[in-house]
Amino acid sequence: MKLKIGLLLLKHSLLFLSGMLLLSSAVQASSFTLVYSGNLNGELEPCGCSAMANFGGIKRRATALSALRQQLAEKDQALFVVSNGGLITEHDSSDRIRSDYIFSGMASLAYDAIAVQSHDMGFGIDLMLPDQLPWVSPHPAFPDRRLLKTQGTKLAVFSWPEFQWVANSQLKKVDEDLSEALRAAKKSGYITLLFSPLEKDDALKKLPAGAIDILVVRGRDEQIKEPELINGMLVISPGTRGMLMGQLELQTDANGAITSHSHQIIELSDQLADAESLTGWYEQYNDAISQHYKALVKKRKEKDEGQSPYVGAQSCGICHVEQHKIWQESQHANALASLTEVKKDFDPHCLGCHTVGFEQAGGYLDQYITAELANVQCENCHGTGREHSQNPTIKLPNQQLLEQPVCLKCHNREHSPEFKLEEYWPKIEHGLAKPDENQGISG
Ligand code: HEC
Ligand code: HEC
Ligand code: HEC
Ligand code: HEC
Repeated sequence: MKLKIGLLLLKHSLLFLSGMLLLSSAVQASSFTLVYSGNLNGELEPCGCSAMANFGGIKRRATALSALRQQLAEKDQALFVVSNGGLITEHDSSDRIRSDYIFSGMASLAYDAIAVQSHDMGFGIDLMLPDQLPWVSPHPAFPDRRLLKTQGTKLAVFSWPEFQWVANSQLKKVDEDLSEALRAAKKSGYITLLFSPLEKDDALKKLPAGAIDILVVRGRDEQIKEPELINGMLVISPGTRGMLMGQLELQTDANGAITSHSHQIIELSDQLADAESLTGWYEQYNDAISQHYKALVKKRKEKDEGQSPYVGAQSCGICHVEQHKIWQESQHANALASLTEVKKDFDPHCLGCHTVGFEQAGGYLDQYITAELANVQCENCHGTGREHSQNPTIKLPNQQLLEQPVCLKCHNREHSPEFKLEEYWPKIEHGLAKPDENQGISG
């Protein structure tokens, strides 16, 4: 009897306790953390070309996420990590290898939902590790929603199609189905999140009518915009190139409507250590890229039998002594060493702007076969110089270099964000000798 009462009491107090838990979980459910990232654009790691470009990379992201997960677990706070996809690019043959590693690297980060952009399918769906990565897309090859539940918080994630996937006649139906799915999720107590392939203004105009709590629009540049609450919908615009992540603390009311939010940006700067867990993965990646490159070199060597149209700066310097001296003292003459220092002197993604004629017939292959074409040289700007060197009355292929200007081929926004012609040109300025100052043309 006593035992029974005891049990009864225990049962009651358990009921009471679970009631408390329910109550407190209802309160807790109204606060959760959402970490989001935008396009990675194939940037498995930051190039580090300038301090301003030295953000991002999967290794730093891993460090940031595991620290945050630990911190939130201690507080018992629900966390969802989502990405709007656009992880890879498909420019050259090495991108296939890079993409493979981007997908496996991302898989190790345990995201909760990743939207599919058409680029992501560039090397086929198998490479996307569909059973390891939580893709979400109206594309028939993927789940069209992710219903997530953590610590009592329920988040339903959907993705709007990229419009080229959908025949015009089907657009209306797709939108209706999506609206319906959003409303149904809302009815079952989910907070809803929709990834959009459109930028903000366009997305707001064409939005499928439905119960959307969080709308993730496509970012235009690296920056993360401050989230805006528009008609009860929180609009987030993540940046590109995976340089930053956004972190939101969200409060919702009993109906799952967002009542307030606080936002901060997680900068993936070099202050963040690379995750040790990814050391092996990264070494394998570098090996794979390096082997691919060596195979390419071998092929190219076999192919390039004719005489190269490039001669290298040394040859120009025989006649243009002063110009050669100015160049020799410039950073351009050191551009390959910069790659060697960061162990990237084999990466086709980097060599194009740090050597002469890379991927052009007779251009740079490697430091042994084509030592004379290492670094940024005269012919990067002036064009191939063999003909001119043999007969100086023949003009160089590129003329009016400052009008175009030739510099922007490499000093683009991604790799040289601080470039200004009027500040950079004086550092390497040279020209033809003035006839009255010099006898020859070498001054
Ligand atoms: C083929 C690619 C390429 C072209 C074209 C090019 N540059 Fe560069 N430039 C580089 C690279 C790569 C570096 C970095 C070299 C290093 O430090 O390793 C660089 C560095 C520089 C620097 C040194 C920056 C510093 O902070 O000291 C200056 C100045 C510069 N370039 C000016 C120019 C100007 C002006 C032009 C156009 C007339 C030009 N470059 C065209 C690739 C290029
Ligand atoms: C589109 C051309 C381009 C590509 C591609 C490129 N770089 Fe550069 N890189 C530059 C330019 C231009 C600079 C000089 C930036 C400046 O000083 O404004 C530079 C500078 C650098 C520097 C010198 C930074 C310093 O502080 O002195 C390093 C290191 C570097 N790049 C590494 C890389 C690596 C690694 C890759 C491949 C992942 C790469 N670059 C790809 C154009 C390029
Ligand atoms: C980063 C790009 C760049 C590099 C590298 C470079 N030059 Fe130039 N060079 C220019 C530009 C820009 C001008 C100015 C053209 C103008 O004023 O329109 C110029 C001008 C010249 C001129 C005078 C042309 C004229 O008609 O006035 C000569 C000669 C010349 N360069 C030779 C060289 C030699 C030799 C080298 C290598 C040792 C070299 N340059 C490396 C960009 C470059
Ligand atoms: C055998 C000597 C010689 C060699 C080698 C030589 N040049 Fe010249 N270069 C000249 C002479 C001479 C002129 C002046 C031609 C004129 O004014 O008609 C000239 C003119 C130029 C000019 C201005 C005219 C133009 O075509 O744009 C540039 C730029 C130039 N050289 C760059 C180079 C570069 C780059 C190299 C190496 C690829 C080189 N030169 C190799 C002798 C040489």
